[in-house]
Amino acid sequence: MDRYGKLFIKASVIYLGLGVFFGVHMSFADHGINELRFIHVHIMLLGFVAMIIFGVAYHILPRFNARPLPHPSWVPLHFWLSNAGLWGMCVMYALGGFYTDGPPRMLFGVFGLMEGTGIFLFIINIFHVLGEDPEIKAEPKR
Ligand code: HEM
Repeated sequence: MDRYGKLFIKASVIYLGLGVFFGVHMSFADHGINELRFIHVHIMLLGFVAMIIFGVAYHILPRFNARPLPHPSWVPLHFWLSNAGLWGMCVMYALGGFYTDGPPRMLFGVFGLMEGTGIFLFIINIFHVLGEDPEIKAEPKR
């Protein structure tokens, strides 16, 4: 399996553990619940759910459709953008950056943009992988 496909899946299960940890903590205590809700939701969805899908999709879809990724060099970039973006968003949110309109809010936005950019790299790569190959013709029916 490709290194970054595996790294996406390893990261996703780490985020699963972290998200569950926050969830259990939130079940017992209300302290910082608003910040924790944002962190819990995004760690679970952008961390666990999205990253397990990215890892499996990068590994399986090119094989299923017999078309390689058009931009394999984007996969590591996607991995680092996703992880830095997610951590940056969560840390800035915990520090209250989302609730200001100064530089901390701008920084929160930059991390969100990193997260979003990584996702668009994935979308472009996967759309090409799922394209029809005009040279492969269906077998004539008998
Ligand atoms: C580039 C990716 C993303 C960015 C930058 C982002 C950013 C944000 C922001 C700024 C908020 C508002 C927080 C507040 O009002 O205090 C928010 C809330 C939320 N987001 Fe995201 N988000 C992203 C992706 C996602 C995805 C993929 C999902 C779900 C599949 C998601 C689910 C939610 C939910 C459920 C809330 C409401 C949380 C609450 O009630 O406290 N987000 N997000």
